[in-house]
Amino acid sequence: MEKSSHFLNEAEIEGFFRMAEPINLRGMSLYDGFLSLEAQEQMVKDLREVVRAAPLFSPITPSGKAMSVRMTSAGRYGWVSDRKGYRYSETHPDGGPWPAIPQSVLNVWEKVSGASRSPECCLVNFYDETAKMGMHQDRDEQDFSQPVLSISLGDDALFRVGNLTRGGKTESVWLRSGDVLVMGGEARRLYHGIDRVKPNSSTLLPKGGRINLTLRVVT
Ligand code: SIN
Ligand code: MN
Repeated sequence: MEKSSHFLNEAEIEGFFRMAEPINLRGMSLYDGFLSLEAQEQMVKDLREVVRAAPLFSPITPSGKAMSVRMTSAGRYGWVSDRKGYRYSETHPDGGPWPAIPQSVLNVWEKVSGASRSPECCLVNFYDETAKMGMHQDRDEQDFSQPVLSISLGDDALFRVGNLTRGGKTESVWLRSGDVLVMGGEARRLYHGIDRVKPNSSTLLPKGGRINLTLRVVT
């Protein structure tokens, strides 16, 4: 019988996830190697459907530059940016609604977020070998008591974490395929970014590159 992405029972979830004590990164919790290869492959399959329904686009920053990361979203809200600014929208720039967040992704939130609410947005970031993301805070959401949960798939990425205000000493860690990072509590508001992606460091995505998912409670 083919394994369905939907409604995995506890036993199946256990085989998909490696539960171990997370690494503390300035208050963020890094679950190193959390997703099994099988879980990663299932997620990529589910994300192909998401991207089919809501194609990746290159957001334009308010200052008019195209971001190097291509994006789309799943869930009630998607994150968009253009000359008018950064915000959440109930529609894709093409005009349609966003597809549902895949169950394979929701399972991770259930397992490790510790959140009291369900995610309303799964932002899908695609990095090719030249893409990066400058230091920023996630602050377009209304309730900072809810964590942001990040899932890495594909090539390794150098993640930098800073402080509650811009500048100061930073620390970096390589995020690898299958890693899950929970930014909760005070660490929810830490500046962070991606300096670079290491090409050909993973074989998960046939054409290379990196996918990062961030699950957010928006309202
Ligand atoms: C983000 O901060 O939205 C993305 C972080 C990442 O790509 O790991
Ligand atoms: Mn962010």
